Amino acid sequence: MSFDDDAVRVRPGWLLQEMAHAGRENLDTGHVARYDAKENAAGDAEVALLESLGLGRGATVVDLGAGMGQFAIRVSGACGRVVAVDVSPVMLRTLEANAAAAGSGNVEIVHAGFLTYEHSGPPADFVYSRYALHHLPDFWKAVALTRIRQMLRPGGMLRLWDVVYNFAPYEAVERIEAWCATGGTGITDGWSRAELEEHVRDEGSTFTWLLEPMIRESGFEILQSTYSDDGIFAKYVVRRN
Ligand SMILES: C[S@@+](CC[C@H](N)C(=O)[O-])C[C@H]1O[C@@H](n2cnc3c(N)ncnc32)[C@H](O)[C@@H]1O
Repeated sequence: MSFDDDAVRVRPGWLLQEMAHAGRENLDTGHVARYDAKENAAGDAEVALLESLGLGRGATVVDLGAGMGQFAIRVSGACGRVVAVDVSPVMLRTLEANAAAAGSGNVEIVHAGFLTYEHSGPPADFVYSRYALHHLPDFWKAVALTRIRQMLRPGGMLRLWDVVYNFAPYEAVERIEAWCATGGTGITDGWSRAELEEHVRDEGSTFTWLLEPMIRESGFEILQSTYSDDGIFAKYVVRRN
């Protein structure tokens, strides 16, 4: 399957070019080849969480920013339909190979983004998104959250996990510096300092106290929020009103 057809779709001139914000590393074949070793999607625990929220064999799950499919493939054994969406053709080619190798026949792969994915078929029971929404600037995060609401059935759930800064502005320099100091010097054994610096500098991670009103304003109730002690990571369980 070709995932390089983005350019031929007609889009309004004002729409954010998601590929331009996809993250340099996510379009880089070398990075993608190393991604599974750098990042573990904690798929078992995440699927167990979704099951505790009602995920069952008939459920439809949409994974936005699915990457190489660690979660999408893991959840495919626990539900009826998985749609794995990503803007990066490099990620999607690997996802396609991984899904075939895992025998996950119910994973549909779609080359699109938060702002362009058009859901078809029965509404989603769950939308899942890990470490992806931060690629959008804040205005577009709210637009994306509204679009997520539209693809969910009433009462459907969004599981959102991302780099979201849970501290006050005056703490930013100290907190960000402390996080970057956890980075290694190589890029093969986890995240390097240079990659963490690039995340803060070039990507759109925002504050929890900006993101959470956006979630509510987009028509969701936040049922659960969990923050890492260093104030860098946030996880949410969110229900469509
Ligand atoms: C850090 S990876 C996370 C992948 C996977 N969700 C995980 O947890 O391992 C971020 C992913 O988001 C994708 N991405 C970036 N911008 C996106 C957008 N606007 N819409 C959908 N996916 C996007 C990237 O291509 C990449 O695959």
